[in-house]
Amino acid sequence: MNPTDAQLPPFDLVLFGGTGDLALRKLLPALYFRHHEGQLPDQGRIICVARSELSSQEFIAMMEEAARRHINEEEFHQSTWETFCQRVEYLKVDITVQDDYQKLSDVLSAHPDRVRVFYLSTAPGLFRRICHGVHEAGLVSPLSRVALEKPLGRDLESALQINDELAEVFTEKQIYRIDHYLGKETVQNLMALRFGNSLFEPLWRREHIRDVQITIAESLGVEGRAGYYDQTGALRDMVQNHLLQLLVILAMEPPISIDSDCIRDEKIKVLRALKPITGKDVTKYTVRGQYKAGVLNGEPVVAYRDADGVPPGSNTETYVAIKAEIDSWRWKGVPFFLRTGKSMPEKRTEIIINFRSVPHSIFEMPDSTNRLIIRLQPEEMIKLQIFAKGRGDAMRLLPVNLDLDFDQAFKKRQMIAYERLLSDMIRGHQALFNHRDEVAAAWKWIDPIIAGWEDYSVASQMYSAGTWGPAAASALIARDECGWAEEHPDV
Ligand code: BG6
Repeated sequence: MNPTDAQLPPFDLVLFGGTGDLALRKLLPALYFRHHEGQLPDQGRIICVARSELSSQEFIAMMEEAARRHINEEEFHQSTWETFCQRVEYLKVDITVQDDYQKLSDVLSAHPDRVRVFYLSTAPGLFRRICHGVHEAGLVSPLSRVALEKPLGRDLESALQINDELAEVFTEKQIYRIDHYLGKETVQNLMALRFGNSLFEPLWRREHIRDVQITIAESLGVEGRAGYYDQTGALRDMVQNHLLQLLVILAMEPPISIDSDCIRDEKIKVLRALKPITGKDVTKYTVRGQYKAGVLNGEPVVAYRDADGVPPGSNTETYVAIKAEIDSWRWKGVPFFLRTGKSMPEKRTEIIINFRSVPHSIFEMPDSTNRLIIRLQPEEMIKLQIFAKGRGDAMRLLPVNLDLDFDQAFKKRQMIAYERLLSDMIRGHQALFNHRDEVAAAWKWIDPIIAGWEDYSVASQMYSAGTWGPAAASALIARDECGWAEEHPDV
């Protein structure tokens, strides 16, 4: 991770899938913000590549139309936008036709000394073709990098295959595997909280922590992505990557430096220490759910199975809850409850660390669990719930929060995840990207869960859209005498 906001080196960023949703919704707005903040050098070009027959002007009009939808009005500055557009050009390239790479070569060869990022915002089935295409066109230099979006495979075997294919052309140091959660400032703040403060470290272990809960709840449903989603499901879409990344950052040992290799080494150790959930244990330690029709924010929501493009009777999970355990000295016996779901009552990404109760309570109090609540989305805040004597005659202890609201504290725009990730790949900083061993270790833990679900015909349990998931998820956590956050009205 780079501690500075220094200007980036000269670069050519080639965006494959340039007319796609991710490019228009996230990547180009993120680059616009970096341009607005003065971080992009004059010699920084963005070359968007896709199959549509468009001139650069037509592409820019399309990009502007999308940007106006995805950038707040007060953050869209017309004059900066116009200078930003001067960096952008569009190339019609059919990536399956080798001769078409010549067009790219014509554009790139003028600046062989620049950092070159090939950003593959395409279906994974095209990764290999593009890597070989740019390689055979002589476009890969030591300063070249390749960035790829998830999903990286659908199991260990396919992930290894993708990684092997990338390795035919790029070295590991040139490969940037994206998990956009790592680009979120709040996720980086988790590391700041743990390793920039001496306060928590002595408590950050099994002796003091009773359980950890990580929730990524989304109010959105499948939203027109049924083709991808039904083949993928929440376990592959959210747990294998985003949820495990949060768990790993929470649980890793302090790295010896902020250097990418040191951070990755520690992260991999946690993934490898995850206790496997195999065979029939999947029915005990995991809950698979799917939303049925319900009401969310006063609006009716159709059942997942009735959404456009979802095959009738689909068993694909839109919700997962897991009790994970880490077999290490620090964490042995501490349950990590993970859950994620679509069509839930609100968008909320939150980590709750429940500390152990006082060994002997001398006060009148219902519960003496101190909680550290780290809210990542929608707002960024940290709350430490402690107990204090309420005002009045009685010696009665009540929970109160020590609150840190990042918007109030820093009064600065929160960067979107891709701003950070794009800057880091241009700089050549890999700490916020996944190493191939990390991806493999995550799949090694996920694959047996998928196999168990298949072997034991685990059906998705229904929950109404607009609720916090199936009843079985409450039962899962209750077995350890714990409860999800919404079951604690004080949180
Ligand atoms: C993506 C998933 O990786 O993350 C989506 O494919 C999900 O299904 C999204 O909606 C959530 O990201 P965020 O940043 O909105 O929490």
